[in-house]
Amino acid sequence: MDPFIFRDREMYCEDVAIREIAGEIDTPFYLYSSSAIEEHFRAFDRAFQACPHLICFAVKANSNLAILSLLGDMGAGADIVSGGELYRVLKAGIPGGRIVYSGVGKTEKEIKEAIEAGILMFNIESLEELDAISRQARHLGRRVRVSFRINPDVDSETHPYISTGLRENKFGLPMSQALQAYIAASGREELEVLGIDFHLGSQLTQVGPIVDAIKKIRPLLQRLESSGIRLRFIDLGGGLGIRYLDESPPGPDEYARAILSELKGLSHTLILEPGRYIVGNAGILITKLVYTKQTRAKKFYVVDAAMNDFIRPSLYQAFHEILPVIETDGPIYPTDIVGPVCETGDFFARGRPMPCLNTGSLLAVMCAGAYGFTMSSNYNSRPRVAEVMVRGSQFKVVRRPETYADLIHGEEIW
Ligand code: LLP
Repeated sequence: MDPFIFRDREMYCEDVAIREIAGEIDTPFYLYSSSAIEEHFRAFDRAFQACPHLICFAVKANSNLAILSLLGDMGAGADIVSGGELYRVLKAGIPGGRIVYSGVGKTEKEIKEAIEAGILMFNIESLEELDAISRQARHLGRRVRVSFRINPDVDSETHPYISTGLRENKFGLPMSQALQAYIAASGREELEVLGIDFHLGSQLTQVGPIVDAIKKIRPLLQRLESSGIRLRFIDLGGGLGIRYLDESPPGPDEYARAILSELKGLSHTLILEPGRYIVGNAGILITKLVYTKQTRAKKFYVVDAAMNDFIRPSLYQAFHEILPVIETDGPIYPTDIVGPVCETGDFFARGRPMPCLNTGSLLAVMCAGAYGFTMSSNYNSRPRVAEVMVRGSQFKVVRRPETYADLIHGEEIW
């Protein structure tokens, strides 16, 4: 479903004209469609209905409480990577028993908090982490559920910054250490070893890599069984891509079909950790044209959002469509769309064909629902922007914009 559609040459989010929202809320702001989020979750969930599964939304993609609680109410769990994400997820009402905890650097404090919250399992990424979890479990007198994240050494063919399943990446245990690690962990009374996990990378546009990873994992499962270690969960991570420009990623049905056919004969409960697929196309960033600047070399639109609000174009050279909220005719010129931050890398698009727009025109940066707000910062002392959610013909500010006072909160002059 595309929740952002034009009616009478004007962009709507579900049944609300975006111009109307911008009349009440200062730009820039993120805008989310609740129906799109629900629909994406349902489609993903349905695709795996043939086998027992739990969908743990990757909180790093979008951690707004309204979104977490919406998904939690639909039965989603959460894939977290920090104590802060645990805090948010619990506040949003997602029960501990639906939380999995990934990440290479969990601190003892974070481990303790997660044990106390009774999470479903830790995805352990190193032998030292295994020891740290054991220590905390003994200290708290609790039996803790764990799984190992294995690095299957598969090329996910995505941007190098978001590829994680290759041997040279920092993630997971190498296959060669896996058996030893499982044997060591299953001998410890304070641990219940019940799963295996991998995550190959993000924005995957083919099923090949995940199928290859399963092929590599299956013999390990067999070896574990012959050593008396029977696992209950297989966590396949996240990574299903979305369309930003002309990619044609598999839909959840094709993705699930490929996975389920490769897992044939196994009766484990599957855990899936989609982030981008659920929220990516359900959110946009609304910004306003502040100045037009024509130099001999180029035409620039300077907008009121910047790389601190949305860093994907600067960091990954990611393509995001940018559409005027009110359609206009007339000549099209290649234009750089840039923010006010003092860096040349502060751009949303370069040489993008754009119509002539008046100062004050609204622009929508599309597909910004995943890794948009969550990667924003206060760089250049810019308050972080509002997040707004639409439900049918209504909208609500689900995170107020920061104030200048928020910027210095907690600081002291000494
Ligand atoms: N599970 C684990 C262990 C992960 O590390 C990630 C993403 C996911 C699940 C969710 O992946 P997804 O379904 O969203 O692709 N900031 C980058 C993406 C970084 C992804 C990091 N890990 C971007 O803007 O493209």
